[in-house]
Amino acid sequence: MAGTRGFRILALLSLFFAILVATWTVAQHPKSMPLSPAPASEWWGNAVFYEIYPRSFMDTNADGIGDLNGIISKLDYLAGIGIDALWITPFYPSPQVDFGYDVSNYEAVDPQFGTLADFDRLVKEAHRRHIKIICDFVINHTSDRHPFFLESRSSRNNPKRDWYIWKNAGPSGGPPNNWGSLFGGSSWTWDAKTMQYYYHFFYAAQPDLNWRNSSVADAMFNSVRFWFRRGIDGFRVDAIDTIFEDPKMSNNPLTGNIRPDGEPEQGYKYTSGLQENHGVFRKLRRVADEFGPGHILLGETYPPKVADLLAYYGSRDDEFEMPFNFFLLTQPKLDAKAFRKTVDDLERVLRNRPINYVLSNHDNARAYDRLGDGTHNDEIAKLLILMLLTLRGSPFFYYGEEIGMKTTLPQRIEDVRDPVGKRFWPKDKGRDGERTPMQWTGGRNAGFSTAPKSWLPVPSAAATRNVAVMEQDRNSILSFFKNAVRLRRSSPAILSGSYSSIGKDPCVFVYSRKSGGQEVIVALNMSNQVRRISLGRNAPIKVKLSSNPARASETVLDSILLAPFEAVALE
Ligand code: NOJ
Repeated sequence: MAGTRGFRILALLSLFFAILVATWTVAQHPKSMPLSPAPASEWWGNAVFYEIYPRSFMDTNADGIGDLNGIISKLDYLAGIGIDALWITPFYPSPQVDFGYDVSNYEAVDPQFGTLADFDRLVKEAHRRHIKIICDFVINHTSDRHPFFLESRSSRNNPKRDWYIWKNAGPSGGPPNNWGSLFGGSSWTWDAKTMQYYYHFFYAAQPDLNWRNSSVADAMFNSVRFWFRRGIDGFRVDAIDTIFEDPKMSNNPLTGNIRPDGEPEQGYKYTSGLQENHGVFRKLRRVADEFGPGHILLGETYPPKVADLLAYYGSRDDEFEMPFNFFLLTQPKLDAKAFRKTVDDLERVLRNRPINYVLSNHDNARAYDRLGDGTHNDEIAKLLILMLLTLRGSPFFYYGEEIGMKTTLPQRIEDVRDPVGKRFWPKDKGRDGERTPMQWTGGRNAGFSTAPKSWLPVPSAAATRNVAVMEQDRNSILSFFKNAVRLRRSSPAILSGSYSSIGKDPCVFVYSRKSGGQEVIVALNMSNQVRRISLGRNAPIKVKLSSNPARASETVLDSILLAPFEAVALE
């Protein structure tokens, strides 16, 4: 998870000025050399991914919690809006302390989400609609209720004792060292029965596995095979940086900052990002390869610098097909200069490797509010959709992003469900805000559930902001999403062409995608100013899609005037 919970950050967009009309001349031939296109032969190279948080997507058994049958019931919708692959966050049996990221059985479905037969049907029905299925693999830790841990904690000489990380108390009787949990407090919890501490990078109910024990690797890889055998297309691998810890147990350095719970913040130098992790990634790659090409691994990592992302592909491209790229998700505000620099840096570092772009997920405030200015959020939502769907590689959308769902935080600590929110309240209200139920209709519980109450409250905005309403409106965010997917699918330049940014306008991020004789230019006005962008073209260039409905199929000569936050694709 990122330390990016900067909710309600207003874009600092020249509010001092009234509308300013500026001209920026764009060179016809961008200075930077276009990079060679990504091989489109691999399905994930340009697939449109959609993350589903199953608790919140669609409930079919009226318990207020979404389920696998709910996902099946919405596959036609997903196929209809152009989704190529679903990443479904954990649905395995779990005490749900961290809502599924505390797994107590890696080879089954939690009854609240359905059955294995439902899962098999989901895979079959998705594949029938040409939609791939990606599951979540929680590699770093299990639940403290997992039979492995129950055995491990039962006695010091249990054969599974070494499957987790147990240490004696430090010299003063306290924890063995200063290692802290990302979710607050020490990362060591005392076990009174066996008189030792166990280690957990996350919550105490999520003890870290000891990956130095080869039996752990064997058992976990067998669970990976279990799901591949059921026909899935890949795994998103959770928390890949925290698999190993420093064997010398050196104390982590303090950063000098204070965390929202008042504790000193530490840098996770000795508990995150160890080189040894890559050995596990390579082994996991070989397990996925047993099932043939097309079985992919996505890694959850938040490296500090763009250049650091490269290592996760593996020195021989033998680790992750796609480490997640969160460098746009961690941008605190909409800023053309910062977005252009980030994308240019990524393209330069990754060259023609597969790339992905993500703006929202279940751990971070939704981009709708994070990058919105409070006034033009719907326009900004369309701009972000066009950007994700026209940059090189694979876009990741989080359920509800296609209708501009907003982050709705709990108002009272009693209502908080996420342990992170309980711990860090009120400075950080946790992750419930981005996990509210999908808004399907204006009816009861937004059409998500017929239960008296859904597990998290449905935001009041759902009455008007929902799929049913937006399907009827040609200018809605959802209609724009569909049009942008249609444009993408019809354009070799967008699907697999090269990328080059154009010009250096401080307010408008402009780029060109080229393949063969086709060139698509995308201009994203990330400001509340009207901006004139000179395209420097000799021939007329046609507007293929614009977030401004008045502009449909306009032909532009040498320049285009963009409304505040307008997003346009030209060919
Ligand atoms: C990252 C997941 O995305 C997050 O939701 C979870 O709490 C932690 N890993 C721990 O598994």
